[in-house]
Amino acid sequence: MRETQDFKDFSIDNWYKEFKDVTIKTVILELSRDVLNCFSCTETLEDENLESNEAPFPQEFKDQVKNAFNTLGRIIFVKNNWHAPSDAKMFSFGNTLIAENIDDIKLYLTTSGIIQEDFSTVKGVTFCLCLRPWINIHPAAEFRCIVINNVLRGITPRDWPTYYSHFKEEGPQIIEKLLTFFATNIKDKFLRKNYVFDVVLSYPEKPFLLDFGALNCKTNLYAFSWKEISPLLNKEVPEEVAPVFRYLESDIGIMTKGAALQKFRLSE
Ligand SMILES: Nc1ncnc2c1ncn2[C@@H]1O[C@H](COP(=O)(O)OP(=O)(O)OP(=O)(O)O)[C@@H](O)[C@H]1O
Ligand SMILES: [Mg+2]
Repeated sequence: MRETQDFKDFSIDNWYKEFKDVTIKTVILELSRDVLNCFSCTETLEDENLESNEAPFPQEFKDQVKNAFNTLGRIIFVKNNWHAPSDAKMFSFGNTLIAENIDDIKLYLTTSGIIQEDFSTVKGVTFCLCLRPWINIHPAAEFRCIVINNVLRGITPRDWPTYYSHFKEEGPQIIEKLLTFFATNIKDKFLRKNYVFDVVLSYPEKPFLLDFGALNCKTNLYAFSWKEISPLLNKEVPEEVAPVFRYLESDIGIMTKGAALQKFRLSE
């Protein structure tokens, strides 16, 4: 996702209002230049160390974050317009990315290469801080759905390649739930025709939306490869075509994504 239009369309502040009722409650704070400076890393030329900016946060921003904690709860999950600081996990207690205060938020954002790259390279977009209540999500409950020409074509677990025995038995229900969720809440409401969206299916709660993302060669398609997905972009298919739910069919131990794609028959 490196196109300016992609950054605009997939920014959470662009889609949150429309999907508010089916996604996690989110407080979105626009980042002023001053605040952005506080979240930016500076490189010391002599020793190539990355140092976080020690400038203090403006009081107004501190108050906004405090209010967000009051609204969302004691522990929160933080993202920028598009990304979570997933590569800063090792700095959090128990690899959880739980933020309990503004210092945690600063630590995650300044140590994350993903976030810093966005802050330093994306142009023409207002950066924001996106705060959500921290929720315990079972890895097997997360799915990435691939939409091509407004049709849901592919479903992949995000925890890939991990074997979950229940996928085989529950596959049809998972497809049904995601199709219904897509038809009711997403289709024709999102402004693009080709995209991915992430959903959490957690029983007994209703399925909920986690995020949207661009559909391109940089997007992690987990059980699918860009090589097999990209030709589908130019093909019109009937709306009724069933999505493929692809998951690991057998317990193969620890494998890389590439090895799993090559070696094992995947369920289609
Ligand atoms: N509110 C939350 N509370 C706890 N964990 C969360 C929350 N939101 C997301 N996560 C976890 O963090 C992971 C990354 O979150 P998310 O998908 O929002 O990040 P992302 O940067 O958009 O990822 P990608 O680049 O793959 O699209 C999720 O797969 C989920 O396991
Ligand atoms: Mg995402």
